[in-house]
Amino acid sequence: MQLSKRLQKIADKVPPSVRVADIGTDHGYVPVYLIENKIAQTVIATDISSKSIKKAEVIIKNHRVEDKIYTRVGDGLLPLEIGEVDTVIIAGMGGVLIGNMLKDGLDIAEKIDTFILQPMMGQEKLRHYLLNNGFAIEDEVLVYEDKKFYEVMVARHGSQTVEDDIYYEIGYNLIVNHDPYLPKFIYKKMDKTKKLISHLEKQDTQTAKKRMDELKTRLLKYEEVYGWVQKFEI
Ligand SMILES: C[S@@+](CC[C@H](N)C(=O)[O-])C[C@H]1O[C@@H](n2cnc3c(N)ncnc32)[C@H](O)[C@@H]1O
Repeated sequence: MQLSKRLQKIADKVPPSVRVADIGTDHGYVPVYLIENKIAQTVIATDISSKSIKKAEVIIKNHRVEDKIYTRVGDGLLPLEIGEVDTVIIAGMGGVLIGNMLKDGLDIAEKIDTFILQPMMGQEKLRHYLLNNGFAIEDEVLVYEDKKFYEVMVARHGSQTVEDDIYYEIGYNLIVNHDPYLPKFIYKKMDKTKKLISHLEKQDTQTAKKRMDELKTRLLKYEEVYGWVQKFEI
């Protein structure tokens, strides 16, 4: 199984696990890869959509790994039994939805060691949820594919605090790890914020002024972090 850059990074973060679950698997590519490369002994591939599960089942069968990948239809972590898997992957969904899955499946989440999370949006909200609910983000990596950035997080149970709210938006581990895509990632945020500010400058309302002040403060923070990380670029 050949994976896209995003899925490959997700798979690379899976520790040698006996049992893995891929929640919202859709196509089932990651479970197949994990079995073919002997990273997992068994994988439970779940999805809320039975259509997605049927699609995954065809791919799993074509790769002749149906004896090692079990498919289930259901919401979030709920199709899993307590203690059934060591590692869970939840990728390609919104950060709020991912946080809700962890909250709704708390009993199941408690017995899972490693959480590989890749939110498509709401990354800041997911970091908030994790750090305020007994998780620590131990590792993070950026993926740049088709002109988009993806943030892959590895979380475990633990305690972690942030010294500055900016680290909810720019993962602290990306700085610690000197992630080579970090300068470009922050530059993009600065660019977007500057465009928003110049758009708001044309409006003469109190709400626009308030928003503009918030964005200017945020821009200063981005510029500060950008100053530290510029040298990381490849
Ligand atoms: C964009 S796809 C991502 C597929 C794959 N994980 C990836 O990263 O490429 C999102 C998948 O999540 C599934 N999904 C959405 N909400 C879900 C939920 N509450 N529980 C389980 N699966 C869900 C969707 O049906 C869809 O197949």
